[in-house]
Amino acid sequence: MAASLLKAGVNVGSSQFLGESIAKNVQSPKVSKAHRVCFSVRAGSYAEELVKTAKSVASPGRGILAIDESNATCGKRLDSIGLENNETNRQAYRQLLLTTPGLGEYISGAILFEETLYQSTTDGKKFVDVLREANIMPGIKVDKGLVPLPGSNNESWCQGLDGLASRSAEYYKQGARFAKWRTVVSIPNGPSELAVKEAAWGLARYAAISQDNGLVPIVEPEILLDGDHSIDRTLEVAEKVWSEVFFYLAANNVLFEGILLKPSMVTPGAEHKERASPQQVAEYTLKMLKRRVPPAVPGIMFLSGGQSEVEATLNLNAMNQSPNPWHVSFSYARALQNTCLKTWKGLPENVEAAQKALLLRARANSVAQLGKYSAENEGDEAKTGMFVKGYTY
Ligand code: 13P
Repeated sequence: MAASLLKAGVNVGSSQFLGESIAKNVQSPKVSKAHRVCFSVRAGSYAEELVKTAKSVASPGRGILAIDESNATCGKRLDSIGLENNETNRQAYRQLLLTTPGLGEYISGAILFEETLYQSTTDGKKFVDVLREANIMPGIKVDKGLVPLPGSNNESWCQGLDGLASRSAEYYKQGARFAKWRTVVSIPNGPSELAVKEAAWGLARYAAISQDNGLVPIVEPEILLDGDHSIDRTLEVAEKVWSEVFFYLAANNVLFEGILLKPSMVTPGAEHKERASPQQVAEYTLKMLKRRVPPAVPGIMFLSGGQSEVEATLNLNAMNQSPNPWHVSFSYARALQNTCLKTWKGLPENVEAAQKALLLRARANSVAQLGKYSAENEGDEAKTGMFVKGYTY
């Protein structure tokens, strides 16, 4: 097929063309070339703004602070420092994070959980305004979590498409400008064709709906670290998953210039006998991305997935040793919050020290985004891995 596309003088990498081609094949196979219906990439009235938003999140030396833990997951974080899981404690923790002085120098976007999007500081300032003043784009987790996928090999699928358009319009009104949808793929459980297809289709529908409502979609098919497989097996699965994701993104006429990706790095499974060096992780991950991700996509914002803070920063640094077609940066939750949370311990007198700990990690990852990080002065806590088997977010 590629040869005939080239012969026709068509830009094979364009999502618009793929959309046309799919539309032609699926909807009207008998229509002659001269009369075929042209589908344009979608995102109508918001197209310009989406491109601007995505570029601003993917700006040099900056990345995303992910603090969109559901109430249940946030509860686990609070429990680890002996705090009760209630709205007051969740608000106090998020206030600590979001009001860190100087954060906007290293952080371009913050992903919030719905509760946080509508919360304010104890002085009455909306969190979204705190972020705007710091030049940080507010984002929102819009998926409704994972449930078992019937007919699969014990795999899951991600809920949240029902009512997504109206929820997204409301989030935009409240100040959100980008969205996140996290679905997962398990290597030890398959992955089955069904689970990969479902993950990719869900992400594509979500992406189209988000763009229609002014939100830049972060596309996140997390390939879980669970398993004892080799790095080559992860590469194979990641290539399969991302090819399906881009196929369906194109089929849904998603504007590639107005999305961001949140991939897992390509590493061996957490229980594999060998660990990979940052150079090896970078080599495999970039190989996979270059094979699958068009350069129209402005930013790749990695998740940390249970790596230690230092490991996640070292791997990001290794990926930025030579120029990439896209901005290659971070969208970490655990790998930005761990030392900060442990320093805070829920005590008001520790807030300043905890904010310094967060800023230290944000700065380290900013330097890694520019390819200039060294782990020389890192403490032991930052080197502790955070992998949890079957982790839910
Ligand atoms: P981690 O960096 O902890 O893997 O978080 C992933 C995520 O999806 C947060 O938005």
